Amino acid sequence: QGEEELVLKDKPVQIYAHRGAKDRANEATLAAYDIAAKDGVDALEIDLRMTKDGVLVAMHDKMIDRTTDGIGNVETYTLEQLKRFNTVGVFNGSEMREPIPTLEEILQRYGKRETYYIETRLVGDQLKMEETLIQLLNDHDVLASQFVMLQSFSDASLARLTELAPEIPLTKLIRRGEFKLDEALQSPYQTIGAEAGDLHEADVQALRTAGKAVHVYFTDSDTEREEQQRVNEYGIDGLFTDQIEFTKKLLETE
Ligand code: G3P
Ligand code: CA
Repeated sequence: QGEEELVLKDKPVQIYAHRGAKDRANEATLAAYDIAAKDGVDALEIDLRMTKDGVLVAMHDKMIDRTTDGIGNVETYTLEQLKRFNTVGVFNGSEMREPIPTLEEILQRYGKRETYYIETRLVGDQLKMEETLIQLLNDHDVLASQFVMLQSFSDASLARLTELAPEIPLTKLIRRGEFKLDEALQSPYQTIGAEAGDLHEADVQALRTAGKAVHVYFTDSDTEREEQQRVNEYGIDGLFTDQIEFTKKLLETE
């Protein structure tokens, strides 16, 4: 058990709770983030949308139809209107109804106890939310790399975030089916977020050799477990999991 082994050992793979513990509570709600926080993950993953009156809320989709009892585009509602809807889900045979949280409510609830891995989700390339986001993080005293990581599919958003908060680590997300190693290697961002199905071991090795970190997300719940096992063998840096308990066991048994 010499120093050599310690030096050679990689950092542990980080676990990011994808929209909270979405296997046990309505995604992107305080209930889902509470479970994830209790499970002890490395970061809470939060997708952001902006309301008509400029408030940032945790919501993945542009439309509220899939996850709530309402219909329509998030952007067409004020916060007060949006709060009249609830997210709806069924867990263990019981219906769960939870409000849509604002980012501010999330930051107030967990403060500096959690790390936030926040995704700016844009309609087109309209840069509406970046300044509000950075201001809010600053107001809550978490605008620092130990508390926040930011991610986006949008190059325009990442460029703006770089201007506003150069100290915060940024992840360039690549859409499923669009991963190209040469483009990823040329990305100005330190971390690449790719869909598991697009990644081969040689890609991960090439990115890490070039000094980039690789975070992996999964879009197919039927294959997520086997895909987690597969990409974990490649020496990735982190993964966005929908199944925290499974992922913790997977990483513990290495
Ligand atoms: O943010 C990583 C991953 O969540 C990207 O996919 O569509 O679930 O936001 P999506
Ligand atoms: Ca996301």
